[in-house]
Amino acid sequence: MTRIITYGTFDTFHWAHMLLLQRARAMGDWLGVGLSTDAFNAIKGKQTCLPYEQRKQILSGVKYVDLIFPENNWQQKRDDILKYHADIFVMGDDWRGKFDDLNDICQVVYLPRTPDICSTEIKKILSKTK
Ligand code: CTP
Repeated sequence: MTRIITYGTFDTFHWAHMLLLQRARAMGDWLGVGLSTDAFNAIKGKQTCLPYEQRKQILSGVKYVDLIFPENNWQQKRDDILKYHADIFVMGDDWRGKFDDLNDICQVVYLPRTPDICSTEIKKILSKTK
């Protein structure tokens, strides 16, 4: 059984999110997603369209996702990987190199980011239509 772990905000859930989760899940048999909390987003200076519970509800409906847990801070990844016995840590390649230090406890994989779509752009479009 190969266990995968990934992280993100998954605001205004979109096609590239789905592809990332699909590709991550295809690397193993179980996918856990650390979903950034509203408090953590505030620390990052990121304002979401949807609050945590709604982002979580959407993610819960994605068949590639086996577990959703809160991401509260930058430091918790190492503990999560050990806690959930994750074999592979997956992120989009906008994070390339950023989490290589986790290589001592699991495999770290950066998947190619899907071009031309992101939550930031969707939020810009939504704000123009208000
Ligand atoms: N992702 C991707 N391709 C995209 C957008 C996101 O592969 N076009 C991946 C990210 O690399 C990450 C996961 O989806 O592994 C969750 O990304 P997140 O930051 O929540 O989504 P973004 O749309 O990138 O949001 P933002 O614009 O706020 O950065």
